[in-house]
Amino acid sequence: MKHLLKMSDLTQGELFHILDVADELKAAHRCGGEQPLLKGKTVALLFSKKSTRTRTSFEVGVFQMGGLGNYLNTETELQSSRGEPLKDTARVLGRYYDAIVWRTYQQSELEQLAQYAGVPVINGLTDYAHPCQVLADLETIRAHKGGFTGRKLAYVGDGNNMANSLIVGGLTAGLQVSVACPAGYAPAADVLDFAAKFGPAFSQESAPAAAVTGADVVVTDAWVSMNRGAEAEAKARLRAFRGYQVNDALMAAAKPDAMLLHCLPAHRGQEVTDAVFEAHAAEIFDEAENRLHVEKAVLAVLLAGK
Ligand code: CP
Ligand code: NVA
Repeated sequence: MKHLLKMSDLTQGELFHILDVADELKAAHRCGGEQPLLKGKTVALLFSKKSTRTRTSFEVGVFQMGGLGNYLNTETELQSSRGEPLKDTARVLGRYYDAIVWRTYQQSELEQLAQYAGVPVINGLTDYAHPCQVLADLETIRAHKGGFTGRKLAYVGDGNNMANSLIVGGLTAGLQVSVACPAGYAPAADVLDFAAKFGPAFSQESAPAAAVTGADVVVTDAWVSMNRGAEAEAKARLRAFRGYQVNDALMAAAKPDAMLLHCLPAHRGQEVTDAVFEAHAAEIFDEAENRLHVEKAVLAVLLAGK
């Protein structure tokens, strides 16, 4: 693995290795046995969109591993907001930093950064993918369910970055994956092509209850993501997604011990009810904590030969 730009960059072996390293680093941190795996290393943390978890988990994770993480807001701080070309920014930052994390809009911008930086690049979320989140989701599922084989994940809602990454990551891990997205809000075409290769392990349903039936894990996400297209059509989206809310009636179709995951931030009363969210808060906040451990694992694999 040279970069982490999207889930399909990972083989099943690489994915499981990251989860194993994440579990190891989590255990080491809890017993005070943290190793300074990033001693003397520097990580640029570029953000073109807002963030609570991604920014702070990377900052804290790099610090815990003995490195330096620099938060840089591309909209208010870098010359890129005044027109400096991305390929120049990439070549400069690559001379100073050992790795770059970027949260941005287009996947193609992230790929251009990776092409020119000369150092590993990690996707901190694009409109297309959110691999660090899905690694955390998979670590959480494995911890709560004991494994992936024979387990079903159902995603209900917008066919966005989370849906794209959950489909690819879930199928790669060995989960059965079923999705229900309203017409016009399907996951990316290349993701559906990838999923089609998994035959009956993947299904697309129009009714949320059909996707959720027998699920071990239910996942949803915001109806209006932080991308320019979604924000411009927020009102139409709220209408289109009515009927795709994760509520008690929908959860009743899942297995009685089904988990609910949500990458956060959650919009209670939209994609999830407050009651369902709070009933599953323990899992959801384990998932949020696991961002820290999987991101440290990705950095340890890319920069410290783990
Ligand atoms: N889940 C997630 O990526 O959260 P932030 O937007 O707060 O980083
Ligand atoms: N789909 C959401 C995820 C936020 C973490 C977004 O892109 O805004």
